[in-house]
Amino acid sequence: MKIELASRIRELPPYPFARIDALKADARARGVDLVDLGIGDPDLPTPAHIVAAAAKAAADPRHHQYPSYVGMMAYRESAARFCQRRFGVKLDPAREVVALIGSKEGIAHFPVAFVEPGDVVLCPDPGYPVYATGTRFSGGEPYFMPLRRDSGFLPDLKAIPADVARRAKVMWVNYPNNPTAALAPKGFYEDVVEFALKHDIIVASDMAYSEIYYGGAEPPKSILEIPGARECAIEFHSLSKTFNMTGWRVGFAIGNEALVSGLGKVKTNVDSGVFEAVQVAAMAGLDGDLGVVAELRREYEGRVNILCDGLSAAGFDVIKPRASFYCLIANPKGVSSLDYSLKLLEAGVVATPATGFGAGGEGFVRLTVCAPRDRLALAVERLTTLR
Ligand SMILES: Cc1ncc(COP(=O)(O)O)c(C=O)c1O
Repeated sequence: MKIELASRIRELPPYPFARIDALKADARARGVDLVDLGIGDPDLPTPAHIVAAAAKAAADPRHHQYPSYVGMMAYRESAARFCQRRFGVKLDPAREVVALIGSKEGIAHFPVAFVEPGDVVLCPDPGYPVYATGTRFSGGEPYFMPLRRDSGFLPDLKAIPADVARRAKVMWVNYPNNPTAALAPKGFYEDVVEFALKHDIIVASDMAYSEIYYGGAEPPKSILEIPGARECAIEFHSLSKTFNMTGWRVGFAIGNEALVSGLGKVKTNVDSGVFEAVQVAAMAGLDGDLGVVAELRREYEGRVNILCDGLSAAGFDVIKPRASFYCLIANPKGVSSLDYSLKLLEAGVVATPATGFGAGGEGFVRLTVCAPRDRLALAVERLTTLR
């Protein structure tokens, strides 16, 4: 029997990091000590009060059965309280909040509820690849909105052709942004909501990095703070980066009731919710002392200073983040992002070519600060040899 993958899988773009992964594995097998700044996965542990809440809940048989598809009411209430506390956004936990198995799950499943074959989905380029993949899995067509350095890595809404806007069903926005680390300035979400209401487009805002911001930067806003957003927007939140919980797989989506309930319908049919002990742990984070998150921001900021200031002093063209834990370095002229990351790898530092997030990432490699300070200092030392 010949086993054939479905076209939606066959036609996925090639895995962009295959070559780097192979070279990385090879170097490690030879005993080379690489400084791996390739992956956005916090190296610090989940705060102790969250782990303790999980341990207690896991031991309680009341949490051992199938959870609710859309999340425990207590978890949704906790997420709503967090959003009120953090953004001043008031939500009805019964109708405007749905639990997610990490925000990636919700981002991938959202188009199943709203995108028809042939619909256009506006995706940032560069951008988190799941926006386009989820679109394609639902038969939709991604239209890539370029994010350029000279426009603050914001999409130019006026440059979206009228026929594309007419066919567009969903627009993804993501600030703080991966991979560019850009923040949305005041007014950006107003423009997005106005554009969306004018063209009947759903706005899906990815706030995975909402709590990771530094120094003078204002805490990122929720799009739901903007008048009119309740008519057209859904926002995806994650505990992964806020509380060092990438492994726990928990997040939530909030916003327009019809959008939240459409996503909930998909989930009812494809998964059986988040383990309740994980939801209880997440509640301990969301309702707990947010000083742990402030502490985390301070740590990342110290790391960003070591990495970015060190590389700038060595003559690199570095974009120092005001949010998220990503730093972009511009490639030297005439060198592609992939070739440049291979060069960095030869020097003993793993970076991600920003083209892994779309063709619009050409010109940059991405480094994370998910590594201890001494490792970041070592990365600076190694990369300085390239100048
Ligand atoms: C922009 C962005 N959105 C969403 C996610 C998904 O995070 P999670 O599924 O852990 O909530 C990531 C993960 O790296 C991300 O970079």
